[in-house]
Amino acid sequence: MDDFWSGVGVDLHLEPDSADGRRVGLERALRDAVRDGRLAPGTRLPATRRLAADLGISRGTAKAAYDQLVAEGYLTARQGSGTRVAELPSVQAEEPGTDTRARAPRLDLRPGSPDVGAFPAAAWLRALRRAIATAPSLAYDYGDPRGRIELRTALSGYLGRARGVLAPPERIVITSGYVQGLALLTRVLDGAAVAMEDPGLPFHREVVRHNGGTVLPVPVDARGVRPEELGGAAAVVVTPAHQYPTGATLHPERRRALTDWARARGGLIVEDDYDGEFRYDRQPVGAVQGMAPGQVVYLGTASKTLGPALRLGWMVLPPHLVDAVADAKLHSDHHTETIGQLALAELIDSHAYDRHVRACRLRYRRRRDQLLDRLGARRSVRGIAAGLHALIEVPDEAAVLARAEAEGLALGALGDHWHTPGPGRPQGLVVGYGTPRERVYPEALEALAKVLGQLGGTSRAAARP
Ligand SMILES: Cc1ncc(COP(=O)(O)O)c(C=O)c1O
Repeated sequence: MDDFWSGVGVDLHLEPDSADGRRVGLERALRDAVRDGRLAPGTRLPATRRLAADLGISRGTAKAAYDQLVAEGYLTARQGSGTRVAELPSVQAEEPGTDTRARAPRLDLRPGSPDVGAFPAAAWLRALRRAIATAPSLAYDYGDPRGRIELRTALSGYLGRARGVLAPPERIVITSGYVQGLALLTRVLDGAAVAMEDPGLPFHREVVRHNGGTVLPVPVDARGVRPEELGGAAAVVVTPAHQYPTGATLHPERRRALTDWARARGGLIVEDDYDGEFRYDRQPVGAVQGMAPGQVVYLGTASKTLGPALRLGWMVLPPHLVDAVADAKLHSDHHTETIGQLALAELIDSHAYDRHVRACRLRYRRRRDQLLDRLGARRSVRGIAAGLHALIEVPDEAAVLARAEAEGLALGALGDHWHTPGPGRPQGLVVGYGTPRERVYPEALEALAKVLGQLGGTSRAAARP
């Protein structure tokens, strides 16, 4: 059939990178072209013989790449009509108004999302297929509000070895993302005063308020949150591994002070470990939960490691809160969708999750290094030891944001994160270097360098963690 089709099909513009091998490079180039919409659904691709000749590779390599993408669902191969780009919902136009980031400028360095182009579609598909093939029929019925035992067991092992969390499966509740965990907990705390880091994510303050909590701002400095300023809070929400948005790591003395506060006052520490998997320096930073499992609610999420669209998160609770949180979950939505839970359990058990996280860690670390190479010597860049964003100090946020907008570049601003904004607050850019697709990152970085280069004056040496 290939011979028949060798005279037809589109002329492909592909630039496969063969650093990881020719087949992998060709697969990646094709996958990106389909995902980005450069290859429209239904497009007929050249026969393997012609593609191989065009790219100077063997026909077997071209065939293997096509086969892989057919298996992943990006291409279809049918006798008589050759190999075509599949009708993928993901590459069709977004419905206007349904995606909060849809109106994003082309160069998006806002924090909050990972590179969703790195989603491990093939591994997820395999995990889903296996999950569905092996799920008992009861998996399609209502289930335990805490979530599937398969996922809670898989997470128990993963969180213990990767994050130092003491997490027996019976104390885990699977949620629809971190944000649902925070909402459920606030409801269980029943109007209590919840201390939240300042600066912090305004959306999370709103979630606490929407669920009846009172937000008390607690200041953050270069060592993270300041436990001595917790006042009369019943609970404190912290981001110890990589403070959002300053990027500070909670200092060991502060960790101790925080757990001392919780024990002495009966306070609750709510640990948001949103990007704890991504640490780039040698010093591993485990979760605070491991120091005080009876005082800490640990919350993790798949939003940074896989993608926010999955809406999969997990809470590890102290024994006294398990029943109350499970009851709040039951009355919220019965439980989180089951098939995705089973697929994630499969991904973790097969170690595909670890492999994916490791590959992403390398990718983001390289991006972080490129950011520092480009800017580090001239600007103070903070929060670079971990995570997917960094804080760049600037004297005038508004001026930089206006220039960035003119360049088609979106950035986060520290000013949007204060509990009570006002003059005299430190100013900075919150740069989500994890966000752009891989192929636009260099361009986004160039635009950032250009925008900052126009600032002049504030030459400061060195990047600080
Ligand atoms: C500080 C912080 N915590 C948690 C999350 C994850 O939230 P969710 O799991 O609800 O997507 C994010 C995502 O951007 C975040 O920035």
